[in-house]
Amino acid sequence: MWINKELKKREIQGNLRTLKKTSQLIDFASNDYLGLARSDRLKKAILQEWTQGVGSTGSRLLTGNSLYAETVEDKIAQFHGCEAGLLFSCGYLANLGLFSAIGAGNVIVYDTQIHASVHDGMRLGKGKTIPFRHNDLCHLEKRLRSYAPCFVCVESVYSTDGSFAPLQELVILCQHYGAELIVDEAHAVGVFGPQGKGRVYEEGLTVFAQVITFGKALGSQGAIVLGSSELKSYLLNFARSVIYTTSLSFPSLVAVNCGYDLLPQMEEERLQLFKNIALFKQIVKTSSSSPIQPIVIPGNEHVKARAQKLQQIGCDVRPLTSPTVQRGKECLRICVHAFNTEKEIQHCLEHL
Ligand SMILES: Cc1ncc(COP(=O)(O)O)c(C=O)c1O
Repeated sequence: MWINKELKKREIQGNLRTLKKTSQLIDFASNDYLGLARSDRLKKAILQEWTQGVGSTGSRLLTGNSLYAETVEDKIAQFHGCEAGLLFSCGYLANLGLFSAIGAGNVIVYDTQIHASVHDGMRLGKGKTIPFRHNDLCHLEKRLRSYAPCFVCVESVYSTDGSFAPLQELVILCQHYGAELIVDEAHAVGVFGPQGKGRVYEEGLTVFAQVITFGKALGSQGAIVLGSSELKSYLLNFARSVIYTTSLSFPSLVAVNCGYDLLPQMEEERLQLFKNIALFKQIVKTSSSSPIQPIVIPGNEHVKARAQKLQQIGCDVRPLTSPTVQRGKECLRICVHAFNTEKEIQHCLEHL
């Protein structure tokens, strides 16, 4: 009875979630920014590289560790200029493990637009958590004056509206107040920085931890937390989302490994992606310079109706409704890709 009541409530509020089949429409919705997930190049590389079995057979701390997993981990850490890294099954579990593990007994100051996985991790950590207004350095400084030493958590490219965190300024502020900065690079890696190494690398910064996910520009699945060897060891001991779960399967590890091999060779795709973003912004003025372009259409029903209209003319555009975003900030989250053609972008925007 109560399940039905809760679902009905959502339906009335206009935010009932249902599954949709992947469509044959023009992709303006996926996080496959470079087109790696659909590329023959990645598929071929995986098939050549995959010689082991399938399942990892256990958690990393039991039978699920392998030389291959350790090699991939070290290779990724080195690629991003970090001392060490620890693999997780996905970005959600990486943030869950990281923030629950560091949360206990510590204060975490977070940007209000931070991803749901960080919120869930902080909740599990049961430490003190303090928000600061999105990208508002004055507000953050006020928080640091009251709460440092603490952790500060941001996304280098925010997943909902594509805005950039001011990383240089954040590092300076954190250093001044003795705070540790954690940067979720989910939407930056593959796209920004030399060879797609991300925004932290691009800006020449060192931070306490970086969270990198493989399900977006890298075209596969999984995640890694990068930082010091000490942090890796701490997470292996305290991050329950890595301790109590089967580690990544060999096909997943191979896909990640091959994705990283291909990243340096994808300059052409990155160039085309930025050309497409520039074209998009010529037609519609938005605040974002990333592949994620938000068009705010307040109200769940309004934004859903607009997305549906775009789908009817062949464009796969998805709405972000509340409570995923704040009420009144419902938007179309249009993702621009390297493989979108000029004609496709114009067609989509003409009907906006
Ligand atoms: C900023 C951010 N962090 C973490 C995640 C979770 O990553 P994954 O999809 O690998 O679980 C996402 C994906 O939605 C994200 O956008």
